[in-house]
Amino acid sequence: MLNSQINQFHSFHNLFTLQKPFLARAVDATHHSSSSAYSHTTLLLPTTTKKSNATPTRRSSAGKINAIYNPPLATKVSGVIHFKSSNLDRLKAGQIIDDYFPIWDKLKLEFVSLNLNCKPVRTEAAYDFMDGEYYFEFGVPDDFGEIGAVLVGNDNLNKIYIEKIELSDKVNFTCNSWVHSSHDYPERRIFFADKCYLPSQTPAALRSLRKKDLELLRGNGQGERKPFQRIYDYDVYDDLGDPVESLDLARPVLGGKKFPYPRRCRTGQKICWEDPLTETRTKAPFYVPINEDFSDIKSVSFGARTLYELFLSVLPRLGTFGYKDFFLFEDIDLLFNEGVMISGTDKKAASLFPRFIHQVTDAVNDLIKFEPPETIRRDTFFWLRDDEFGREMLAGVNPCCIQLVTEWPMMSKLDPNVYGPPESAITKEIVERVIKGYMTFEEALEQKKLFVLDYHDLLLPYVNRIRELEGLTLYGSRTLMFLTPAGTLTPVAIELTRPSSEWQPQWKHVYTPSLGATGSWLWKLAKAHVLSHDSGVHQLVSHWLRTHCATEPYIIATHRHLSTMHPIARLLHPHLRYTMKINAIARKSLINAGGVIESTFSPGRYSMQISSDAYNLLWRFDHEALPADLISRGMAVEDPTEPHGLKLTIEDYPFANDGLLLWDAIKQWVTSFVNNYYPQERLVASDEELQAWWHEIRTVGHGDKKDEPWWPQLKTQDDLIGIVSTIIWVASGQHSAVNFGQYEYSGYFPNRPTIARTKMPNDDPTDKEWQAFLDRPEAVLLKCFPSKSQATKVMAILNVLSAHSSDEEYIGKNVEGPFEVEPAIKAACEEFRQRILEMEGIINSRNADHNLRNRSGAGVLPYKLLEPFSEPGVTGKGVPNSISI
Ligand SMILES: [Fe+2]
Repeated sequence: MLNSQINQFHSFHNLFTLQKPFLARAVDATHHSSSSAYSHTTLLLPTTTKKSNATPTRRSSAGKINAIYNPPLATKVSGVIHFKSSNLDRLKAGQIIDDYFPIWDKLKLEFVSLNLNCKPVRTEAAYDFMDGEYYFEFGVPDDFGEIGAVLVGNDNLNKIYIEKIELSDKVNFTCNSWVHSSHDYPERRIFFADKCYLPSQTPAALRSLRKKDLELLRGNGQGERKPFQRIYDYDVYDDLGDPVESLDLARPVLGGKKFPYPRRCRTGQKICWEDPLTETRTKAPFYVPINEDFSDIKSVSFGARTLYELFLSVLPRLGTFGYKDFFLFEDIDLLFNEGVMISGTDKKAASLFPRFIHQVTDAVNDLIKFEPPETIRRDTFFWLRDDEFGREMLAGVNPCCIQLVTEWPMMSKLDPNVYGPPESAITKEIVERVIKGYMTFEEALEQKKLFVLDYHDLLLPYVNRIRELEGLTLYGSRTLMFLTPAGTLTPVAIELTRPSSEWQPQWKHVYTPSLGATGSWLWKLAKAHVLSHDSGVHQLVSHWLRTHCATEPYIIATHRHLSTMHPIARLLHPHLRYTMKINAIARKSLINAGGVIESTFSPGRYSMQISSDAYNLLWRFDHEALPADLISRGMAVEDPTEPHGLKLTIEDYPFANDGLLLWDAIKQWVTSFVNNYYPQERLVASDEELQAWWHEIRTVGHGDKKDEPWWPQLKTQDDLIGIVSTIIWVASGQHSAVNFGQYEYSGYFPNRPTIARTKMPNDDPTDKEWQAFLDRPEAVLLKCFPSKSQATKVMAILNVLSAHSSDEEYIGKNVEGPFEVEPAIKAACEEFRQRILEMEGIINSRNADHNLRNRSGAGVLPYKLLEPFSEPGVTGKGVPNSISI
C-alpha cells in the first residue's frame, strides 16, 4: 500500500525534486496557495474540475471521469519519467532542430488508484533541462491505495518515447512506448503498473481501462492508418504488386483460398483503379502502429534504419552494373581486394555502411569494397568441397530443410499427368556406386543413413513459367546425401528435372560426383543449381515465411487481445518487438514486385507465389517447435533417456544440438512463468483474453489454415507452455539460425549463388553450346552465377541483414522491468539467464571438439549461430530476443 511507503518517498523526493527548477516552482506555487499537498494537486487540475471533498463518484465504464475527488491529502508522491527523443539526440549532437518544436512542454498525468472508492489524481510533469528527465509530484489521501494506472497526455507537437515512469512509492510503469501528440489525437495514453493480472483478477478500478485500451488497439477496421495511430489489424498481402507503375508489376494477392498466406498489418491504403484487388503503394514508409517504429530512438546501426537507408541510397547505384557477368574468378575476388567503383558519391551511405562503402573524396564515384566473409578467410577453396556442401545442410544458414529418406524410390506427390512419372530417377544402383565399401543400399536405408534435400515438388510447377523469363532458368531438384561413418554428409546424387512443355518432352538427369573432367564440371554446375534452389527456399521459406511473416499475426493478435497488464503479453513483448517495422520495409523493397528478391533469386517474379505454396503445403504451427520440427523431418525420434528427450538421427547436427539447449531453456522459463500465473488448469480455459488471442491467431492471422486439425488446443497449462515456447523459439533461435550466418555463407556467392541463370550444358544443348562448355567450363559456371549487379546487391543486403546493431537485445541477457515485480518470476528469469550464459561455454567446447566434424576441422567455420551473445557487426553469432533485422 502506498501509505506504508511514505518514508521511502521522502528520501527519494529529496534526492532530486528540490533541485529541479520546474518542480521547485510547482512546490512554491503550492505553498503560496496552501501548505498542504492537497492544494498542489488541486492547483494542477483543469479549471473545469469541480473541487469537492464529497464521496467520490465512480468512473464510467468508458474510463472517463464523472467528477474529481479532492479529499484531504496526506501523502506526497513524486516521480520521474525516463524517456527518449530523437530531438534530444540531435540537440546533444549540436544539430539545429527546425522541423519540430522540441519536447519541453509539460506532460499531463492522471494516476488511477486500485481503490475503487478513490478518484484519480492529476498532475503535470515538467522537463528538467539539467538532466534531461521529466519530473512530477502530487498528493494523495491516506486511503488512496496502490496506484494501478496512469493516463498520459502529451501536448507537445511531437510524439515522445517513454521508457519508464517511476514513482517514489516504488510503483513502476515499464512503458517502452511512444505517446502520440494530443494535437494528432486527443485520447490519452493508458499505462498500467508493472504488476500483471489475468483478466478475471483485474482490480475493479482498472477493468474499464483494460477494456478500453484493447478497444483502442483493435480500432474499427476502417480508413487509412496514420503514423500516430497504434491500431493493430489484419490484411492480406495485396500491396506487393504495383500495377500503377507498370502492369508487368501486377502480382496476385497472397492470403485467401488461391494463395494461402499469413496476414500482415492492415494499413488501409487506397485500392488501385488498375487492379481493384491491389492496394496503392505510397512513396512514404508503410504504416506500422506507432509503437512498432524505433528508427528515431535506436542507434544508427539499428537494423530497420540501416536497411531502409540501404534500399534508399545504395542499391539503386549497384544496379548500374546491369547484367554484366564475372569473366574470371579473379573478378569476384576483386570485390574484396580492390573493390569496384559505383556511380555517384554519398557521404551518408559511406558513413552508414563503413563495412563496404568507401567514399572516394577526389572522385565522382564511391568505392564498394566488401569484407571477405569468415568462410573464405579461413579456406579459399571451401566452397568447392563436397564435404562442405553436406556440412552446410547441418550447420550452415539453412539447416532446417534436410530430411531423412523414409521411402524408396523417392516419390513426387504432383499430378503424374502433368509432371510425369512420380518416381525419382535416383536409383538404388546409382546410390550403391557411391556408398560401395561402406554398406549396402538396404543397410543404408534401414540404418537411416540416407538424407535428401527435396525441392522437386515445390519448384517443378514453376519451371516452365520461369524459363520463359529473360535471364532465368529453373529445375525441380532432389539432392541425396549419405551419412558417412565419420558422421558427415556426403552428396551422392543430384537429380534435376524439368517437366514437358509444348515443345519439349520431360527431361531429367542424375548427376553424381565424378573423377573425370567433364563429369566434375557438370557436378559443380548441378551443385550450383541446387544451391540456388536452397538459397531461394532459405530466403523465401526458412527465413521470410517461417520467421518474419508467420510471426506478424502473433504480434497483431497479442496487441489486440492481451492487455499490456496480461502476463502472457509481458512474457511475449520482448520477443515481438521491432519485427513489424522490418517486415514493412521488406514489403516495400525486398519482396515486392521488381524488388530485390525478384531481381536476384532464381524464382524471379514467382518468388512470393512459391512462398505461398510452401505455406500451403508445408507450414504447420505444431511443427515450428524445434523438437517437432526435427521429428517431422526424421532428424530425431523421441527418447526419454536422451538429454532433451530426443535421439538425433545425425549425432553431430550443430543446429539441432545447440538449438535444443536454447529450446529447453526457453521452455523451462515459460513453464515457470505460466505455472506461476496459472496455478490451476481452469484459469487457462477461462481466460477470455487468452482464448480470444489464440482463436484469432488460428482463424484470422493464420486464417487460411483455420480448418487444419493440427492446431494445438489451448485448455491446459501445458498447451499454453507449448504455444508460447514455440512463438519465442521462432522469434529468437529459429530466426537467428537462419539469419545471422547469411553473409558468412553467401557473401562469397559461389558458395551459395542466389540464382542459376543458365541451364545445364547437357540439357538439350546445341552443338555450339556443348562445345563452348568443353572449351571453357569455367566461363559456363560464371555465366550461370549471378551477374555483377545481382551479386553485389545481394552481398550488400546480406551484410546488413547479418549484422547486429550496437544496442541489440540478446535473449536472456537482461531481466525485463515487469519481471522484477514478482519474486518467483524474477527468480525464474534469473535461472533462465544462467542457462543462457552456460550455453556459450557448451557451444565453445563443442566447437573445440575435433570429433565433431560438422563444426570443427581444418578451415571449418565453427557453429556459433546459436551462441547467445555477440558484439555488434557481422559476427555469425548472437541470438536477439526478437526478429529485428
Ligand atoms: Fe531476418
